Amino acid sequence: MTARTGSLTAALIITIAGTAPALASERLLQDSCSGCHTAEESGLSRISGQRKTPEGWMMTIVRMQQAHGLDISAADRRAVVQHLSDTQGLAPAEAAPFRYALEKDPNYQESLEEPFASMCARCHTAARGLLQNRTAEEWELHMDFHVGHFPTIEYQALGRDREWYKIARTEIADYLAEQNPLETAAWTDWRAAEKQPVAGGWVVMTDLPGIGEAYGKLTVIGENSPYQISGEFVTADGTVHPASGQMNLYTGYEWRANLDIGGTAYRQVLALSEDGNSLQGRQFDRGNDALGAPLTGVRDGAGSSILGTVPSAVPAGKARVQVVGTGLESLASSTGSTAANDFGTALSLSTEGNGIVTFSTGNAEGQIAHYASIDSIRVEPEFTIARVGGGSDSGPAAVPAYFNAVGMWNGPDGQAGTEDDVRIGRVDAQWSVANAHDHAAHMKDTEYAGEMQASGIFLPAIAGPNADRPFSANNVGELKVQAEAMGLRAEAMLIVTVQRFIDPPIR
Ligand code: HEC
Ligand code: HEC
Repeated sequence: MTARTGSLTAALIITIAGTAPALASERLLQDSCSGCHTAEESGLSRISGQRKTPEGWMMTIVRMQQAHGLDISAADRRAVVQHLSDTQGLAPAEAAPFRYALEKDPNYQESLEEPFASMCARCHTAARGLLQNRTAEEWELHMDFHVGHFPTIEYQALGRDREWYKIARTEIADYLAEQNPLETAAWTDWRAAEKQPVAGGWVVMTDLPGIGEAYGKLTVIGENSPYQISGEFVTADGTVHPASGQMNLYTGYEWRANLDIGGTAYRQVLALSEDGNSLQGRQFDRGNDALGAPLTGVRDGAGSSILGTVPSAVPAGKARVQVVGTGLESLASSTGSTAANDFGTALSLSTEGNGIVTFSTGNAEGQIAHYASIDSIRVEPEFTIARVGGGSDSGPAAVPAYFNAVGMWNGPDGQAGTEDDVRIGRVDAQWSVANAHDHAAHMKDTEYAGEMQASGIFLPAIAGPNADRPFSANNVGELKVQAEAMGLRAEAMLIVTVQRFIDPPIR
């Protein structure tokens, strides 16, 4: 078949099906990549020996553009990423341990063994490597890629104290070939598995940073990426934030959506469960991915299922609580009255003192605490970083940090900070910051590093040398974040540091 008939056939198929079918995508891959990657028995050289996430494929192809001059339109690039993620992606179980990197979770700290940690996680997350599966040969070539593109890798700290290339090519390549081989049972099974269509209604629960805990419903329409999404998020006080946008589904389960929610652009990085009935991941502000929160979802009508409650806890007295989930029409509650709605069931409570209300239907059960007093509070996260930013036309914007206060009871042993403590839920708090130590006080970090807002969001200051500070220091700082609620106090640690200038999809 000549190239000409090939592309005519592809064009014809596109017209008939209205979407990008596999054959056309395979053709597009050939057309875009075979100029440099030669056809071999197993497929295109270098490309056929690896599997990775949509973000991973995107990073590779962007490098082909930036470093090697690949010329590809945004639409074709998206189609190639879709095709490669579908045919050479990761199984849900393979991606599961490292989703924090895809979700851009600002608080996750990796803990790794040596020598892998200093060899492969000093420039970027270890997840960037562990979210790939390759043949043994491809893992070896990957070490060559690093030294070829970044020769200073051998002279930098943690590179010059060892024979970096040799260790990478032997010990590390062997380790990765064993841990993350191209062929796995998980991937073979997942490719063969029957996938449920993603279209339909989804009941979801999350937190909109600075706005509050929220539940909602999203309706997905379509048969192929991009799917259309519409729906709404509702906060505890009943305020409705309309939501709409588009979603691409990669590898049969990797949900990537861009949504407008009440005027703010959000990104959803979610995984569809293997049975296709639940969703889990993180939703964040697209302009500011540090501002995000976990999101869970359940397919509307898929049996009985409870995601949780909004709000997560209530002061004793009269309260309306939304039990979020599906199939909750006959929910039985230990107290109060229930009224089913589109998002599950609303619970009207009238409580006194401290206690826990339980509710269930079928196998689904849940609970919510009501409190008149709490024993301690916790700040979540206990440790995080923020980054100064702005102040120039091209530099990165400031990266804020988002804190929540959580109320706790001591539990049966009467001691705070032990295993039997009961996590009540989120409580309203007053926020402030203090200098973390003497040097921070000397540098007046609280004055310069940024501002703590009433919502628990810390907004860092502008970047660049500041002539008003000793040594014209940047507006960095080390701060104690303090929460006060119901007469109790708790602290967390915040490092306000410099910008991240290079910020690829997988950090
Ligand atoms: C203009 C030449 C050129 C084109 C076109 C090109 N590549 Fe590459 N590709 C290279 C070179 C050179 C390397 C080896 C150096 C590197 O990894 O950056 C490479 C390496 C790779 C690797 C191995 C990277 C790794 O991490 O080990 C993958 C995968 C890849 N390319 C995918 C693609 C895909 C997919 C396309 C088409 C969308 C494509 N390339 C188009 C030149 C090209
Ligand atoms: C000196 C810093 C440095 C070290 C050490 C390092 N990397 Fe990287 N790595 C990079 C940079 C920079 C890129 C981004 C290349 C690009 O633009 O796509 C990268 C890219 C990657 C990618 C994505 C490339 C692709 O196209 O698929 C993987 C996977 C990866 N590294 C794994 C590893 C592993 C495994 C090790 C340990 C052997 C390692 N890295 C050590 C700097 C480093």
